[in-house]
Amino acid sequence: MTALTLSTAAAAGLRADAIVVGVAKGAEGPVVAPGAEAVDKAYDGRLAAILETLGASGAEGEVTKLPAPSGFKAPVVVAVGLGAEPEKDRAFTAESLRRAAGSAARALAGSKKAVFALPVSDPADAGAIGEGALLGAYSFDAYKENGSNGKNGKAPLAEVALLGGKPRDKAYKAAVERATAVAEELNRARDLINTPPNDLTPAAFAAIAQTAGKEHGLKVQVHDEKALAKGGYGGILGVGAGSAAAPRLVKLSYRHPKADKHLAFVGKGITYDSGGISLKPAGHNETMKCDMSGAAAVFAAVVAAARLGLEVSVTGWLALAENMPSGSATRPGDVLRMYSGKTVEVLNTDAEGRLVLGDALWAASEENPDAIVDVATLTGAMVLALGNRTFGIMANDDAFRTAVHEAAEEVGEDSWPMPLPEHLRKGMDSPTADIANMGERMGGGLVAGLFLKEFVGEGIAWAHLDIAGPAFNEQGPFGYTPKGGTGSAVRTLVRLAELTAAGDLG
Ligand code: BES
Ligand code: MN
Ligand code: ZN
Repeated sequence: MTALTLSTAAAAGLRADAIVVGVAKGAEGPVVAPGAEAVDKAYDGRLAAILETLGASGAEGEVTKLPAPSGFKAPVVVAVGLGAEPEKDRAFTAESLRRAAGSAARALAGSKKAVFALPVSDPADAGAIGEGALLGAYSFDAYKENGSNGKNGKAPLAEVALLGGKPRDKAYKAAVERATAVAEELNRARDLINTPPNDLTPAAFAAIAQTAGKEHGLKVQVHDEKALAKGGYGGILGVGAGSAAAPRLVKLSYRHPKADKHLAFVGKGITYDSGGISLKPAGHNETMKCDMSGAAAVFAAVVAAARLGLEVSVTGWLALAENMPSGSATRPGDVLRMYSGKTVEVLNTDAEGRLVLGDALWAASEENPDAIVDVATLTGAMVLALGNRTFGIMANDDAFRTAVHEAAEEVGEDSWPMPLPEHLRKGMDSPTADIANMGERMGGGLVAGLFLKEFVGEGIAWAHLDIAGPAFNEQGPFGYTPKGGTGSAVRTLVRLAELTAAGDLG
């Protein structure tokens, strides 16, 4: 893990491999961002002109490396683009700082220590830069010969010192602690998502949750296949029936002694989605190890809430199963009896996420929390609707959906509110059972949301985040987002827990 500290030392004297400065895109060329005054001065005030000569514009994500000015202990200056210069008297947004810090940290893979001299106007800016740096420094090399030092990789940046904050100030210290906890847990979610499905089985995931629970003072209860059968969790068992790796339902409880609100987070944890008997065609299952991204996000958020000591109760539910075809697999046409007692006719075994979530949502509802948020890589339809970087938000309560959307915006996660049109419900009518697991093809993301809604307890505010688009990045890395598992929704969930603790949500 990359270490993050605040420093007030002068940039020139700091022993480091690089100094990171910000450059914005001004009306007449690149503009050096606040925070880099001393560095600019050491170049005789010519940094912007030098950067322009090198072809830099200040565009978001642009990275320009140049030799440090004489007298500097660090050999290299890394100028990172912040995008358009803010209007007069406006600061850079937290998200532009987060992205720039991420791009810089990625460009510095292979170096040991970097000093970040980006614009910091308040503790939140320092937190955003720290978060971006730690998230950008992420790499997954557990399966590479020689780890990150092998021929395919460079070791991630090991140490980040932030300039511009006040290391003795409580608010700055808290911002760095928060950034560290959130980024480390988010990176852990990425590790889980990237771990191949032959190793990350439901039982393996549950064991990891148990270990983390011990470390962070969480209560962890694991329902194995026997307990699931005894409890009547027909959805989770039905999805896991075809796999040699049995399903699990994991409950993680974080309780603050002074909490007066209780949030439940529910995550889809399909450790591999082959589609089951309704097998996915080639081209659609190579990345389906990512189908447990919702459970990974929930796990990370509960641990982060505990590490931050938030004054709230948070229960995380991980619905873990592997969706495989075999002689014991659920068939299209089978009817499952869900934990809620409702029966479901399985018309397509590839619509498995809603089955495991239905059971977990009902289990979460039994505790009557103040709100439930589920996170799932649920439908390809949501990817078609919103693309690869935006998750959809559905809810049974318009005000709650808006609150979740605003929380996501605050932490820099792209999302968009989606409706749950009642008329789509009848497409899931089944001649045999209470409901079918498939409905109309059009609006498939909303149909899935309507299915889930049936398994939420009466009167409980509920939101559903369909992260099928942003959960796994198959394209190149950008900002603080790596290739592979992204950790989508972790920061939104943590923010929701914070807002609830502060009494600002529901
Ligand atoms: N895990 C998939 C959804 C998915 C698609 C996630 C692409 C990430 C990227 C889900 O289980 C699924 O297969 N959904 C089906 C539902 C359909 C059969 C009703 C889909 O979206 O095609
Ligand atoms: Mn599926
Ligand atoms: Zn799936």
